[in-house]
Amino acid sequence: MENATTKNYIPFPELEFAESEKSSNSKTARGRPGMASEAAARLLLLLSAHQLFFSCASAVDRSQFPSSNFLFGTSTSAYQIEGGYLEGNKGTSNWDVYTHKQGTIRGGSNGDTAADHYHRYMEDIELMHSLGVNSYRFSIAWTRILPRGRFGDVNPDGVAFYNAIIDALWQKGIQPFVTIFHYDIPHELDERYGGWLSPEIQKDFGYFAEVCFKMFGDRVKFWTTINEPNLLTKFSYMDGWYPPCRCSKPFGNCAFGNSSIEPYIVAHNMILSHANAVSIYRNNYQGKQGGQIGITVSARWYEPFRNTTVDLLAVQRAISFNAPWFLDPIILGDYPPEMRQMLGANLPNFTSKEKRKLQATKLDFIGLNHYTTVYLKDCIFSPCAVDPIDGDARVVSLAERDGVLIGEPTGTPYFYDVPHGMEKVVMHYKQRYNNTPTYITENGYAQASNHSMAANDFINDAGRIHYIRGYLTFLASAIRKGADIRGYFVWSLLDDFEWTSGYTQRYGLYHVDFKTQKRTPKLSAGWYRKFLKGSLLTRKSRNGSQPQHYTA
Ligand code: BGC
Repeated sequence: MENATTKNYIPFPELEFAESEKSSNSKTARGRPGMASEAAARLLLLLSAHQLFFSCASAVDRSQFPSSNFLFGTSTSAYQIEGGYLEGNKGTSNWDVYTHKQGTIRGGSNGDTAADHYHRYMEDIELMHSLGVNSYRFSIAWTRILPRGRFGDVNPDGVAFYNAIIDALWQKGIQPFVTIFHYDIPHELDERYGGWLSPEIQKDFGYFAEVCFKMFGDRVKFWTTINEPNLLTKFSYMDGWYPPCRCSKPFGNCAFGNSSIEPYIVAHNMILSHANAVSIYRNNYQGKQGGQIGITVSARWYEPFRNTTVDLLAVQRAISFNAPWFLDPIILGDYPPEMRQMLGANLPNFTSKEKRKLQATKLDFIGLNHYTTVYLKDCIFSPCAVDPIDGDARVVSLAERDGVLIGEPTGTPYFYDVPHGMEKVVMHYKQRYNNTPTYITENGYAQASNHSMAANDFINDAGRIHYIRGYLTFLASAIRKGADIRGYFVWSLLDDFEWTSGYTQRYGLYHVDFKTQKRTPKLSAGWYRKFLKGSLLTRKSRNGSQPQHYTA
């Protein structure tokens, strides 16, 4: 491994956020070209709108969250930032193979170098330290630790790489929050037995998890087993977008696969793999290491398109087919009744032995990744096209109602800035799972990007500040209503490789120039730092009373 460098680190720009928002590229602040007087009037309007915006800027502050033990961090995943795909005796993953096939990734890109975190992790940890976060969520590349899964040896170089990260984090007082699996599986396991489609994977996942507990568990106190199994399963085995790209009509037109059956087999194997890892941790490591273990799911929120019984039922179905597909069996012991009703024999059953295992491996916390809310329309009683994201729930999601968008668009086409969704999603899962401790393991905002754009086009990211501030405001409100929220992680620390979108969506608090690997803080990095320092006080909280609800 090469020495990590700090040469590209740039300190925060000492800009006022007020200034940033004047030059915002936010749609709400953008005007039509017009005459000079019109331009002046517009400027005035913009300034007063800006004043309003800035006063809203102080609607949430650090004091609205628990003062001790609350984790505030940033989130990343191995394949999306590390690069070094052939270095340190790493094995080949499914994503290494997939991205090297022609026509799979927008712009023909891949994660071979990504944000070069493999060589620059020290610089990146320094960035986090300067933000003032007390935790960092990252994933471990399975192929760095076990290049051939359980069919080969543990790779000392891979272990040394994550040891170095974990140690450097602790030196800066940053708590590691580790995802064991974030989409990248050893290619050999796909080749040998079909990866997640085979129950064999339960042994491999348990083995990998155990190596992680053994090697890193003395210093890692937060583990999540799998990132967003509810999305991965659909994207890989229902829609055929992610490797191994298996699907069938009407969801997609793949060479292999069966969209009606395989996603549910894969999900079943993932749930049991998770249970296997939890059981190994509980029985052999938790006692002496004293950490906690959970799972992270994607948690969208849904508003009924119309206030009709069918659309309200559609919302219930969509919720069940979303996070509860995984969380209900893990926490409550079986799949949601709506899924059983819709899928019949296509939904596997848990044997009584498996049910006992699930019962014995209750998780310590839930991780929720929340980005957006959509309107939802019934597709049982009304004809509509199949929705690739909500799968067999027979619903369709829409961004617009009566000509009005649900929220400001973001750089990810199907994500909108709908801050109140954060409170609703948290309150739903609070009630459904008896207020299980919860971490918001991802929440963030993308800027659309193309290769002719430069750092300057991205650093004035008022849209991201608006988004994060809004979502935090509603998260604070959920906490006031009793939700046991223990932490919040921004996705992402850095611009990264966004799966099939390649480098066309930038989620980072830090801009990454992928040619030079230079990191440049965006205004949102400065905002987050100020927020964490507690220097964004609301007018009301300055007076000592309850902070106002966010209204913009
Ligand atoms: C995934 C990340 C991804 C992010 C933004 C989440 O669904 O966990 O890997 O980068 O969304 O698209």
